This record gives sequence, structure tokens and C-alpha cells, in this order.
Amino acid sequence: MSSSRAIRLALPLFLVAATLSTTAVAQQPTKAEQMLKYRKALYTAMAWNFGPMGAMAQGKMPYNAADFALRAQRVAEIAPMLAESFGPETKGLPNSELKPEAWDNRADFDAKMKDLVDRSAALAQVAKSGDEAKAKAAFFDTANACKACHDKYKKKD
Ligand code: HEC
Repeated sequence: MSSSRAIRLALPLFLVAATLSTTAVAQQPTKAEQMLKYRKALYTAMAWNFGPMGAMAQGKMPYNAADFALRAQRVAEIAPMLAESFGPETKGLPNSELKPEAWDNRADFDAKMKDLVDRSAALAQVAKSGDEAKAKAAFFDTANACKACHDKYKKKD
């Protein structure tokens, strides 16, 4: 390939790359926005798995021990990831439903998060045993941890 041909080919690619990177810079979310997005994504994934478990626990869906245990395991894995998404840089973001009180009661908020981590771990453990009654009881125990925090620190439910 002659060098002039290489330049002719390289130039448009360079322009495309420059345009793309300018666009990317203009739309780049801040660290705080990315963190909130991560938080919401974790909650979405958690609720996606917690929902069918609730339906099974309430008898709205046939209880399937293997499916219940798999979903419990996922919830238990996601729960400890949440804390990292509540960094102080996310304070006051307009599309966050976190009540500002959470920042003044950080120790209580963190304790409620720890409850979720502990109870979802216990839920995953008991779900693995396949004991339906115990698994359902552990589900409601975990759901109460969600509710305790939402009632106090989430804007709408
Ligand atoms: C320690 C507090 C706490 C616990 C425990 C908790 N949540 Fe939340 N949750 C929040 C807060 C605060 C928000 C709002 C986040 C925001 O918008 O900044 C939220 C938001 C959500 C959302 C909405 C996400 C979105 O896209 O806006 C879902 C769904 C959710 N939680 C499900 C759950 C489930 C299911 C559990 C229990 C298995 C749970 N949460 C436990 C505090 C908690």
C-alpha cells in the first residue's frame, strides 16, 4: 500500500474517531451520576429476583425450591454490593429517591443495610436446604429489612 493511500484511508477514520470522542465527552455522566445508575441497576436486579420469590412465598406462584434458592443466592450476592453505591458524592442528585435524612442518620442507614445483608445471607442459606416453611419465613424476614429502610429513607414506594 502506498503511503498516500494509507493517509487517505486514515484521515476519515481519524475524523470519525474525533467526532465520537467529542460526543462521548459531552455526554459523559459524572462519577456521582454513574454511582446512582449503578445503585438503581443493583436494585433492579435485586427486585427482579426478589419479586418471584415473594409470589412463591405468598402462594401466588407454585413454590419451586430450586428456583427459590437460586434467586435467594442472587439477592444475597447483590445486597453487599449496595453500600458502595451510596457514596457522599450522590447527595442531592435530582433523580434520586433517597431522603436527605439518610445523610444525617448514616449509622442507622448503614445498620439497616447490614440487616439486609445478614438476613439475605440467612435466606440464601435456608433456601438451599429446601425447607419450604423456613425458606418462606426467611423471605418475609428479608422483606421486612427492605421495608424498614424504604419506610424511613426512600421518598416514594
Ligand atoms: C438500607 C436501605 C435499603 C434497604 C435495606 C433496601 N432498600 Fe431499596 N432503596 C433504598 C433507597 C434509599 C432507594 C432509592 C435509591 C435512589 O433513588 O437513590 C431504594 C430503591 C429501590 C428500588 C428502586 C430502584 C430504582 O430504579 O429507582 C427498588 C426496586 C428497591 N429499592 C428494592 C429493594 C428490595 C427488593 C430490597 C430488599 C431485598 C431493598 N430495596 C432494600 C433503600 C433500601
